[in-house]
Amino acid sequence: MKLRAGGGHELLPFGKPPKVVLLVTFSFILLTLISVCHPFKYWQPINYHKASSSSPSSSTVSRVAVSDGGGSDVSVAGSVVGAAGAEAKECDIFSGEWVPNHRAPYYTNETCWAIHEHQNCMKYGRPDTGFMKWRWKPFGCELPLFNPAQFLELVRGKSLALVGDSVARNQMQSLICLLSKVEYPVDASYTSDEHFKRWKYQTYNFTLAIFTSPHLVKTKEADSDGPTHTGLFNLYLDEVDDQWSAHIDGFDYVIISAGHWFFRPLVFYENHRPVGCHFCNVPTLPDLTKFYGFRKAFRSAFAAINHRKGYKGITYLRTFAPGHFEGGLWNQGGNCLKTTPYRSNETALGGDDMELYLIQIEEFRRAEAEGRKRGLKYRLLDTTQAMLLRPDGHPSRYGHRAEEKVVLYNDCVHWCLPGPIDAWGDFLLEMLKTEGRRSREEKKLSSSGRRLG
Ligand SMILES: *[C@@H]1O[C@H](CO)[C@@H](O)[C@H](O)[C@H]1NC(C)=O
Ligand SMILES: *[C@@H]1O[C@H](CO)[C@@H](O)[C@H](O)[C@H]1NC(C)=O
Ligand SMILES: *[C@@H]1O[C@H](CO)[C@@H](O)[C@H](O)[C@H]1NC(C)=O
Repeated sequence: MKLRAGGGHELLPFGKPPKVVLLVTFSFILLTLISVCHPFKYWQPINYHKASSSSPSSSTVSRVAVSDGGGSDVSVAGSVVGAAGAEAKECDIFSGEWVPNHRAPYYTNETCWAIHEHQNCMKYGRPDTGFMKWRWKPFGCELPLFNPAQFLELVRGKSLALVGDSVARNQMQSLICLLSKVEYPVDASYTSDEHFKRWKYQTYNFTLAIFTSPHLVKTKEADSDGPTHTGLFNLYLDEVDDQWSAHIDGFDYVIISAGHWFFRPLVFYENHRPVGCHFCNVPTLPDLTKFYGFRKAFRSAFAAINHRKGYKGITYLRTFAPGHFEGGLWNQGGNCLKTTPYRSNETALGGDDMELYLIQIEEFRRAEAEGRKRGLKYRLLDTTQAMLLRPDGHPSRYGHRAEEKVVLYNDCVHWCLPGPIDAWGDFLLEMLKTEGRRSREEKKLSSSGRRLG
């Protein structure tokens, strides 16, 4: 199957029964990308917080500071002069714990039509609902729950693009459901290709778009079977996928992500020549590992963003959200059967997940420094730790009808809706609020600078 069939298939309204063949195939690909090398590595007795606080991600430039629990939001905004005073109150919203939230969920599969079939876990018989009833509590502060009216006010007249794979689509649908209490968008897509959807919130003149690009760079499916019968992709690591990069001009916010597709067999091309691969079983090509391809793909993606003259938006890296196969690999009976989150002291990021995360952070830092020269802003939407703690939030076998062929595999990669991915909306809203405070501060600083001068 070609990743993008070039608009050959018709528009599939969300929530209606999808074209089974297409989606089964798509879902098969998504599940197959959890390759043989995705080891069973949770429950490692490492203190993740050390990794988190010593990683380069703790810079305040891209982290979000929120006021502490006192209900006042002056700690950042009110510190125009005394910046040092504000720092003392800064809190890393991405480091924390899931705590019970009996008021959740805020929508259901009956009130929101945007839930993709494969993440509509209740429809397909998931018996427990406890996984919906948690909220993210950062250490040292509160993360306010999503407020759809406030979000839409903040993005009035603006546009947001998601770039990535089906987990990005998962995020988009979560956001549509979270906002649905206030307004549903209308379909404003330019193409009937479901991989490139555009939604318009008419009352708020807010555009939400998705550009599906699982590898971020140009790809070609070289073999639909391949060495592990999961397909073989050529990745042109120094050529960005212009199906997204050529279309981001004018977007105010771009959220970029990638991950799970790099687990499959890949042949890496640079300068039009094959330079190596990941699991390709071609004797003449060195195995450069998926990490090589992952790093280069992000480097090319960020370089493309930084070189686009017409792009003035804020770029968010949404960090890798680990899957949770336990007791076997995805195709060997692995499953995710937990019904409650981990506590932060019960598991730790490790192995491939850690490696992918650190590569993203490094490439992000590099891009941020480059972008700063051009006045482009980069922010980290650092979902990795929160999602690591949610083995209970995946569809498992409740992502499809029992008679569908995909019943053979359990989905421990995507997230049920409603579910833990809804917290990404809480993160995003908090980041937009911080952005607003920052720009007010900058304005105040520049106007007081003028007065002083
Ligand atoms: C929602 O889930 C229920 C089970 O909780 C199911 O009976 C119903 O068909 C689902 N509705 C939709 C529209 O998905
Ligand atoms: C809607 O927002 C776009 C920017 O996204 C802007 O160019 C346009 O003028 C806005 N339209 C109205 C009616 O405000
Ligand atoms: C994790 O922390 C909780 C609360 O602080 C404690 O009750 C529990 O025993 C700890 N678990 C482990 C595995 O250390």
